[in-house]
Amino acid sequence: MSASKITIPGLRAKKTSGERITMLTCYDATFAHLLDAAGIEILLIGDSLGMVIQGEATTLPVTLEHVLYHTQCVTRTAPAAHVVTDMPFMSYQSSTVEALRNAGRLLKEGKAEAVKLEGGHAIVPTVMAMTQAGIPVMAHIGLRPQTVLQMGGYKIQGRTPDTQAALIAEGEALEAAGAYAIVLEGITSEAAAAITARVTIPTIGIGAGPHCDGQVLVLYDLLGMNPNFSPRFVKPYASLAPIIRDAAGRYAAEVKSGHFPTEAHAAHQTTRPRICAES
Ligand code: KIV
Repeated sequence: MSASKITIPGLRAKKTSGERITMLTCYDATFAHLLDAAGIEILLIGDSLGMVIQGEATTLPVTLEHVLYHTQCVTRTAPAAHVVTDMPFMSYQSSTVEALRNAGRLLKEGKAEAVKLEGGHAIVPTVMAMTQAGIPVMAHIGLRPQTVLQMGGYKIQGRTPDTQAALIAEGEALEAAGAYAIVLEGITSEAAAAITARVTIPTIGIGAGPHCDGQVLVLYDLLGMNPNFSPRFVKPYASLAPIIRDAAGRYAAEVKSGHFPTEAHAAHQTTRPRICAES
């Protein structure tokens, strides 16, 4: 393991020292290489790939094979970042044995370094079993996209004192079960601050305000790839959609008009370099 590799003890040390943790979703080798070079500390192969890669309406159709494939695309670049893979809907709920087998595949075949599971008290036995088997677990509480059908939409959690107390209890139970970090999604800033103060493991927020130990965003939101989706919790750091549309449009126009390719672009064979951390 290289000296710069981000490890679970290293992440915990960041919480202790008060250094904020950076995490982004990532689904392929090109972006893994770029995000690693930018110093992003955790890459998440999120089941959000159902929406941003596959064009689905929710994360529910995503399968273990899908996340495994994208995990392999990311880990092939051997990033310094810590790599976490989402366990998709119904890959860990039906039995602990199946959950262990599926998580094991993500580590063995995908080379993920941890798995992320949505859920509160219901997943505590699974988190314990995984931790005992040596599988690091990042938990995910608050707004849980895999329960969208039950919730009837994506709703902010922890608005009342009771629901806030319930979230704190979930955070504490997941830490006691062995989770090494917790994603807090779509909860009030107050609830996120309270959980972050109560647990000794790092909390990573998305739509949970500024008081978490770290932050995560869906990469395509940060890059402004979908101008029709700009929820309040996202800050687009780039606006790539018009740039991509413009580049593709200019290419199409030049092919149509005969301006590309010219003789200068003809018959020149190069080998495409492999995308890897050493290049
Ligand atoms: O699937 C995903 O991208 C996630 C993040 C939003 C945390 O779970």
